[in-house]
Amino acid sequence: MREEQHEPSAISSQQSAPSQPLREKEGTRDEGQEERGSSRFRGWDILSAGQFSPADLDHLFKVADEMAGIVRRHQRCSLLDRHVVATLFYEPSTRTRLSFESAVVHLGGKVISTSEVTFSSVVKGESLPDTVRVIERYSDAIVLRHTHAGAAAEAAAYASVPIFNAGDGPGEHPTQALLDLYTIREEKGGQIDGLRVGMVGDLKYGRTVHSLARLLCNYDVGFTFVAPDALRMPLSVIRELNRYARRYQETEDLHDVIAESDVLYVTRIQKERLEQPELWDYVKDLYTVDPALMAQAKPDMTLMHPLPRLAEISPEVDGDPRAAYFRQVGNGLFVRMALLSEVLRD
Ligand code: NCD
Repeated sequence: MREEQHEPSAISSQQSAPSQPLREKEGTRDEGQEERGSSRFRGWDILSAGQFSPADLDHLFKVADEMAGIVRRHQRCSLLDRHVVATLFYEPSTRTRLSFESAVVHLGGKVISTSEVTFSSVVKGESLPDTVRVIERYSDAIVLRHTHAGAAAEAAAYASVPIFNAGDGPGEHPTQALLDLYTIREEKGGQIDGLRVGMVGDLKYGRTVHSLARLLCNYDVGFTFVAPDALRMPLSVIRELNRYARRYQETEDLHDVIAESDVLYVTRIQKERLEQPELWDYVKDLYTVDPALMAQAKPDMTLMHPLPRLAEISPEVDGDPRAAYFRQVGNGLFVRMALLSEVLRD
């Protein structure tokens, strides 16, 4: 196990979104909305996990619980009646785009989508600021996935409608972190303080773990980061942990942490983001969670993964009650419904 470090020198710092909502935005519609009290996040851009306080999270998760009830009872909901949400994705996605779109549909709104930017004016060389200033004329919010860290913040600086960061390159993925935290609360009976959370895999380029670590800084959580030297957690996230005086350790060996983890969050090594492609052969099979490893874990450990997975969790583990990753996917719908309704409704 490596010593706890404050400034790991091998890790380059990465650009990330500002940690506060930029500003409240005008332009959401105000006619014929269902009255559910005033909304806490109205007009916010959702750019970074760092913008949420514990009280914000409690509120959001209460609304997410209500949304789960609406979905499970097949209830009709018109909270986003007459709202149009645009999804603009410059990188591949299955869960994030479809769960956002499903969330809008469940809330009674409509979706317009450019999921494949190769069919849009982006290939003609249109800039992101121009693209968002066009799409805001057609929609009340833009859900953006982009290849560059900081792109969502740049879009938000130009757009007059709220921007939802659905992943900005190796930067952040705040809505994933919100659904991950909601899942941890569900799986752990509401208790977050005191948990030991292990994060495994591509911690350098993994935007899901960057955002989840930031979000968990709101709680008294201890972290163990498991990654090869070339893929360690970036300095920008480590600084945030230090700012909140959160404990963390780093190791390359998953066996060091398996027995003590309350939550194990496994990520895919992202071949497409490696700066040195030759690294792939060394890292691709470094971590595999299989039944033998699960036998060493706590009986109530929660095993999570943002998906898609490759070989890092063996399918034989899927039937283990501790494997929470498909429940995690389901929670994404409820949390994104809560977020969309709180940002867009009156
Ligand atoms: C992740 C992503 O796109 O960052 N997936 C997701 O959004 N659920 C993780 C990945 O691509 O490995």
